[in-house]
Amino acid sequence: MTVSNEVKRRDIMKVVIINGSPRKGNTYTATEIFKDEMNKCGKTLITEFFMPDDMPKFCMGCQVCLGNSYDKCPHHKFTEPIYKAIMDADAIVLTSPHFGASSVPGSMQNLLDHLDFLTMTVAPRKEIFEKKAFVLTTGTGSAASIKMLSTYLKHWGINRVYSLGIKLFTDKWSSMPKEKQEYQEARIRKAARRFYILKKKPAYFSTVFMYYINRIILKKYVGEGNYPYEYWKENGYFDKCPF
Ligand SMILES: Cc1cc2nc3c(=O)[nH]c(=O)nc-3n(C[C@H](O)[C@H](O)[C@H](O)COP(=O)(O)O)c2cc1C
Repeated sequence: MTVSNEVKRRDIMKVVIINGSPRKGNTYTATEIFKDEMNKCGKTLITEFFMPDDMPKFCMGCQVCLGNSYDKCPHHKFTEPIYKAIMDADAIVLTSPHFGASSVPGSMQNLLDHLDFLTMTVAPRKEIFEKKAFVLTTGTGSAASIKMLSTYLKHWGINRVYSLGIKLFTDKWSSMPKEKQEYQEARIRKAARRFYILKKKPAYFSTVFMYYINRIILKKYVGEGNYPYEYWKENGYFDKCPF
């Protein structure tokens, strides 16, 4: 984990960046440009995590986090700093190369598995309903990985998710012709500027729809005494739509 700009002030935008791949290649280059532009837009406090270094253990599918508070996860010592940074941030940025038919590296998927308790079906966090997110992917099939990562964030109840897919036909940024590098850099900078100024918007229709469906499921199939039901009750989600 690295934290830049230690000066904490109210007008600072806190951003957590989760780098989904260990390779310091195309996605890393795109992320560095994105960060640089955000820093130019105003004061930012950027906390970065790198997969798999910051989540070196595989989710074992024990489901403890789905039936208990997330701190019961056997890998809590790795999940905790990432979870806390997400909760503390104003904006979440997920970056990843595109792998396979419609996927992301296992290291990114592994982190999302560890954070699955945030999903609407389990224990969605009010704090996340206020946040904006950005998904930055590289690779020819970028659109599919954007869809996959955006879907996760929407299931967390994120207020807005924006994205940019950089379709490169090379595994080495610097091997692209200069004009193409400049073109991609300009796209990334433009997206970062737009993202920086975005304000909270009304919740997605799909989020509200998911909320009502899950409310029925929790009442009908999960029930009192079980963690997700009790979490929803404690947070008043059964009384009033939080979106
Ligand atoms: C295991 C693996 C699978 C990949 N699968 C695809 C793919 O299905 N479609 C695609 O467009 N690119 C695919 N790529 C290429 C990468 O998405 C692309 O080169 C990306 O920009 C690499 O980013 P990086 O330099 O940050 O690792 C794959 C790369 C790897 C290593």
